[in-house]
Amino acid sequence: METLRHIVLFVHLIGFAVLFGAWAVQAFGGKREFTRLMSIGMTLAAVAGLALAAPWGLPEGAELNYAKIGTKLVVLLAIGALLGIGTSKQRKSGAVPAAMFWLVGILTALNAGIAAIWR
Ligand code: HEM
Repeated sequence: METLRHIVLFVHLIGFAVLFGAWAVQAFGGKREFTRLMSIGMTLAAVAGLALAAPWGLPEGAELNYAKIGTKLVVLLAIGALLGIGTSKQRKSGAVPAAMFWLVGILTALNAGIAAIWR
């Protein structure tokens, strides 16, 4: 079970990498718009993150930090809303508002920071 949990964590990290990588490509040198790859990465990170939020496959005595997990969930919901609303604006007007675009990158980095630093 512990190995399976590590595999799910691996999938979670791939999702994060795809979301942040796809965003970084557009932010630095690309066209500042949302792409399908960002939504795919977010969905992967979300599904694997929710699986990791349940207490299974943990070493003896280890506990989950639910305040941290809850905060990450709220941040993820904000990223999802921005991607959803931004993508529909982009379809209608051809561009995503700059603030929405930058917020997706900042909030994704924030969630990775929370994951790594908050113990
Ligand atoms: C875009 C959104 C997200 C990003 C960028 C992200 C990033 C990360 C990263 C980098 C790690 C590895 C850190 C470590 O192992 O110490 C991690 C672990 C983890 N994430 Fe996420 N995550 C996101 C969303 C979520 C969500 C929505 C949940 C649950 C509701 C979640 C739950 C977890 C759990 C339980 C771990 C295992 C390690 C720990 O307890 O900190 N994550 N995440």
